Amino acid sequence: MKKVTIHTLQKMKDQGERISMLTCYDATFAKLFDRSGLDVLLVGDSLGMVIQGHPHTLPVTLEEMIYHGRAVSRAAQRAHVVVDMPFGSYQVSPEEAARNAIRLVAEGGAESVKLEGGADFVPAVQAIVRASVPVMGHLGLTPQSFHKLGGYVVQGRGDEKARRLVDDALALEQAGCYAIVLEAIPAELAAEITGKLRIPTIGIGAGVGCGGQVLVCYDMLGLDPDFQPRFVKRFAEVGHAAAEAAARYVAEVRTGTFPTAAHSFHAQEIRLVPAKKADEG
Ligand code: KIV
Repeated sequence: MKKVTIHTLQKMKDQGERISMLTCYDATFAKLFDRSGLDVLLVGDSLGMVIQGHPHTLPVTLEEMIYHGRAVSRAAQRAHVVVDMPFGSYQVSPEEAARNAIRLVAEGGAESVKLEGGADFVPAVQAIVRASVPVMGHLGLTPQSFHKLGGYVVQGRGDEKARRLVDDALALEQAGCYAIVLEAIPAELAAEITGKLRIPTIGIGAGVGCGGQVLVCYDMLGLDPDFQPRFVKRFAEVGHAAAEAAARYVAEVRTGTFPTAAHSFHAQEIRLVPAKKADEG
């Protein structure tokens, strides 16, 4: 199976094909999404919220990103695997940024890394790209800056802020980014930035004018039935299905309906698995 690379993604942009990306944090979902034809698996630091239960992404460590990157990359046969650089891993110096990006590739199985921020991070992007690690940028609502931004609010409204975002996007492209995520900005601005760039943009809450789309997989699967922001479409109600399944399980365990004889082993049986499977093994 042919791997999706950063060159495949550029070709998709050039040919007007849209790029599909979802966050992914473990091997089971990676295998499912990979088989669905998804182009990019993002090991997002949103795992700090949906996996670890933090109110934001700031406590996520490099070691944790390496751990989840390894799980996802082990299962991804076709999709490109990009791993987020967590808060604190690239802000201090370009050298440290390059060192940490290298760890995400060497230990975490990343095929590229993503970092948040605009022109201020050009030296970090350049240092990482110089170390042969492709970089995806991330502009607009950058969750790692949420204290500075004053919360999770739409960015780029007003001429001055919009112009700054356009400049940031051009600076990131110039620095060597191979793609840029645009999060929570007006759709018209996202389309304008997309039109000005050679590299693909990938939107989340940024309208349909980007080169592709990303969502947090837990959101699009409806794993948290109470979380329904405007930019998320639920493509399934897995949260309800899981809760219902667990409730049925509880009831069947309590009433002794599960396990049945079919789910049990018996003294007269020699094999622990059906004969065909055991012979194959
Ligand atoms: O960590 C994440 O899930 C992300 C997406 C929201 C783009 O960065």
